[in-house]
Amino acid sequence: MTLKIAVLPGDGIGTEIVTQAIAVLDALSLPLEYGHAPVGGAAYEAHGHPLPESTLEVCRKADAILFGAVGDWKYDSLERKLRPEQAILGLRKQFGLFANFRPAILYPELANASSLKPEVVAGLDILIIRELTGDIYFGQPRGRRESPDGEFAGAPEAFDTMRYSRPEVERIAHVAFGAARKRGKRLTSVDKANVLETFQFWKDIMIEVSAQYPDVALDHMYVDNAAMQLVKAPKKFDVIVTGNMFGDILSDEAAMLTGSIGMLPSASLNARNFGLYEPSHGSAPDIAGKGVANPLATILSAAMMLRYTFNRPDAADTIESAVKSVLAQGLRTADIFEAGTTKVGTAEMGAAVVSAIKAG
Ligand code: NAI
Ligand code: MG
Repeated sequence: MTLKIAVLPGDGIGTEIVTQAIAVLDALSLPLEYGHAPVGGAAYEAHGHPLPESTLEVCRKADAILFGAVGDWKYDSLERKLRPEQAILGLRKQFGLFANFRPAILYPELANASSLKPEVVAGLDILIIRELTGDIYFGQPRGRRESPDGEFAGAPEAFDTMRYSRPEVERIAHVAFGAARKRGKRLTSVDKANVLETFQFWKDIMIEVSAQYPDVALDHMYVDNAAMQLVKAPKKFDVIVTGNMFGDILSDEAAMLTGSIGMLPSASLNARNFGLYEPSHGSAPDIAGKGVANPLATILSAAMMLRYTFNRPDAADTIESAVKSVLAQGLRTADIFEAGTTKVGTAEMGAAVVSAIKAG
């Protein structure tokens, strides 16, 4: 069976890093087929829209999307719906990408890059699963009005609605238990059930669904405590599942435990395992075109694609081992460079991963 990948490099460093990820995929000798399309600012230039119908069509014909990054300061003055970043929201919506996977892995060679003490983070390997399409970010009603009651009745106020439906919580619960089952078999559901009805509901459903996964140990943690534990004892976690807003914040916090944003992959999946795979960072316009960007986050995103959409954990392992091996060889892009290592550019780093795959 041919694995069809829509390749959307986007803006800034997008093209440079995606080129390296494709070279790495090609080194695996899998039956891959690519469809290329512009997205973000590049698509706006070509078609007047950050996510044109022609790009969506390429994605619809694929099983997964390999996405670079979008955005540039020069589009800041465009009206919101034409800005590059809208392409990501559009893709999430079009394909119902409700499960966001963000692994936070600290490679031993990069121990000094973490913002925490080596003994706290050495060997860190956790996975944060964030629900991506519900919660207070999308709940209706929302808006501004005159305060209807209370001490400040009549004063202008703004409000949003925190909201989850049972099927939304059930489907993310199944994704999270399924992922935990394939890893350390421990799942922490992060909520604020002590204060919020939405998250008491969330917690009740997590407990209910856990009956179908007797091999996975479920525990619960309030989000404020989770934020604390992530910097105090992050290795205690295996898989964390949480809502859209808490996940937004905790996944960025976890990212910093591992040092450079240039190392962090991500995946956003729907119910049929169609996925959008992209580095966690943006288009880095400050270093675009200089050949210095770290391609490893994108290369590791390609590995996630093989693991989660194409069900080829063997091929994903091959990429991940090759990345470990180039780090062990001492190769570093500028963002992870330290004294005693060898500084390389984007293309050299990609080529080193390819060589490590061929040598392995
Ligand atoms: P950014 O992640 O692009 O850059 C932040 C800093 O990290 C910069 O100093 C950059 O040089 C560095 N950096 C990022 N990726 C790197 C890599 N692979 N190797 C080495 N260094 C790297 O975030 P920023 O500057 O806030 O945003 C720039 C643009 O990217 C904006 O237009 C923003 O909206 C967009 N953006 C797009 C995202 C996406 O496409 N998913 C996500 C985040 C931001
Ligand atoms: Mg965020």
